[in-house]
Amino acid sequence: MLTEEEKKEIESELKEYEQKNTVCIEAMKIVQRHRGWLSDEAIRDISEFLGMTPEELDGVATFYSLIFRKLVGKHVILVCDSVSCWVMGYDKILQHLKTRLAIELGETSAEGKFTLLPVACIGACDEAPAIIIDNKVYGNLDESKIDDILAQYK
Ligand code: FES
Repeated sequence: MLTEEEKKEIESELKEYEQKNTVCIEAMKIVQRHRGWLSDEAIRDISEFLGMTPEELDGVATFYSLIFRKLVGKHVILVCDSVSCWVMGYDKILQHLKTRLAIELGETSAEGKFTLLPVACIGACDEAPAIIIDNKVYGNLDESKIDDILAQYK
């Protein structure tokens, strides 16, 4: 069941729209913010509240890379995997992240602290190569900048 807080936040989105299913992405983002990721139970909770089927919601979620349908770490690192970042050093920064965290793309570090995921252009091409950690964008990256950034996350 959705918590009172989750319901309140989704209802506030609903004020703008007549049909409940038009806020399904926002509703999934809200619940994900509270729970870290969207389990099958979370999808069922949202679907009951919005009057949609879990399959309909799941279908939307699979097209949206920022909705996590698998357990993720405390912090999610999204590595931009698009052309400007490829040109400006994507390979190097990805390799450094993989080595530092001892994981591959799609995996979570052993202590559950970081999950590393690829994402299409994050709109920071002028600062390529770039990543997002949680909701913060970091650009103009090199190995030492990545070390400094990772040290900020507890
Ligand atoms: S290509 Fe990486 S931010 Fe646009």
